[in-house]
Amino acid sequence: MTDTRKNVLVFRELPDDQLARLRAAHEVTVANPKLPEQLAAFDAALPLAQGLIGSSYPIDDALLARAPQLEVVSSVSVGVDNYALSALHARGILLCHTPGVLDETVADTVFALLLATARRLVELSTLVRDGGWTKNIEDDRFGVDVHGKTLGLLGFGRIGQAIARRAALGFGMPVLYHARHAVDLSSHAPELQGKAVHTPLDDLLGRADFVVAMLPLSDSTRGLVDAKLFAAMKPGAIFVNGGRGATVREDDLLAALDGGRLRAAGLDVFAREPLPMDSPLRTHARVTPLPHIGSATHETRHAMAELATTNLLQALAGQRPTAVYDTAWA
Ligand code: DGY
Repeated sequence: MTDTRKNVLVFRELPDDQLARLRAAHEVTVANPKLPEQLAAFDAALPLAQGLIGSSYPIDDALLARAPQLEVVSSVSVGVDNYALSALHARGILLCHTPGVLDETVADTVFALLLATARRLVELSTLVRDGGWTKNIEDDRFGVDVHGKTLGLLGFGRIGQAIARRAALGFGMPVLYHARHAVDLSSHAPELQGKAVHTPLDDLLGRADFVVAMLPLSDSTRGLVDAKLFAAMKPGAIFVNGGRGATVREDDLLAALDGGRLRAAGLDVFAREPLPMDSPLRTHARVTPLPHIGSATHETRHAMAELATTNLLQALAGQRPTAVYDTAWA
C-alpha cells in the first residue's frame, strides 16, 4: 500500500476539530513562527512540508525557497496579500483561501464602524464610564444620522455587496459603488437592483456621506486612497476602511481629519499591524480604531478554519480544492 501521508505545517493555531482532521490523514507539526519559542520547530518542519496552513504571516520568496517540497499553501483568510503570488505561480504551488464564509461577518463589522463613528459611540460610552455624564448631552456631542445617507463603496466584491444590502435594505441608504467593472446585479444581487449604482470615482466621492474602502491589497491598490481622493470627498464625510490598511496613505488620512475635510474615520485595518504605539491613529479623537476584527467571531473564524482545512486536504489528495486563488493574477 502506498503511503499517502504527507507533512503539514500549521503556522497559526487551528481549532482542535480541524487539527484532528489533518492528523487523521497526515503528519502534522504546529509551529507559529511569530512565537520565539516555536520558531526553531517551524524552521525544522518547513523544508519537509508539502502543505502549509495558517494566516497572518508573510509567506514570501525567501520562505518559499526554504520549502522545496511544497505543493499547497492554504490560507485561513480571504485576502492573499501575505503570499508571494509570482513565486507560487512559477513553482505551480496551489494557493487556497476562504472566500464566502466571512462576508456577512465582515459586513457587520464595517456597519458597526459606520454606526460607531457617526454616533460617536466609543467617545460617549467612555464619557459615561469616566463619570463625565453629569448633565444632558448637548449639541457639541451630537452625532449624525446613518439612515438615509449616501454610502460610497470602493470595491464591490462579495463583502461590498453584503455591506450594500445592510445599507440599502436596512437603513434606506442610496448606495454608489466604484469597481473596475459594473456588477451584473440581476444575477449576483437582484435585491440591490436599482439600489446600488456603479459610479465614476469622482462622482462617488463628491456625493457619499460615508466612503467605505473594501479594497484588496495589490500593486495597483497600494496607497490608492490618498490626499487627492480625500480632497474630492464631500466635506464632513466619514471614512471607513475594512479592507487592507496599506491601500490608504495614513498621513493623508490624518491630514484630511485635521484639516476638517473628514468628520471621522473608522479603521479596522492599518498599514502596520498591530498598530504601532506611536501611530497618531491610535489615539486621534475622531478615529475609531479596531484591531483587525473583520471576521473575528467564533462562528466565522471556525468556518474559515474548516474551509481552509478542507482546501488543504483536497489539494494534498490530488483533488481540486473548493477555493483556489488564481495566482496567475499576480
Ligand atoms: C481576511 O480574511 O483576509 C480578513 O482580513 C480576515 O479578517
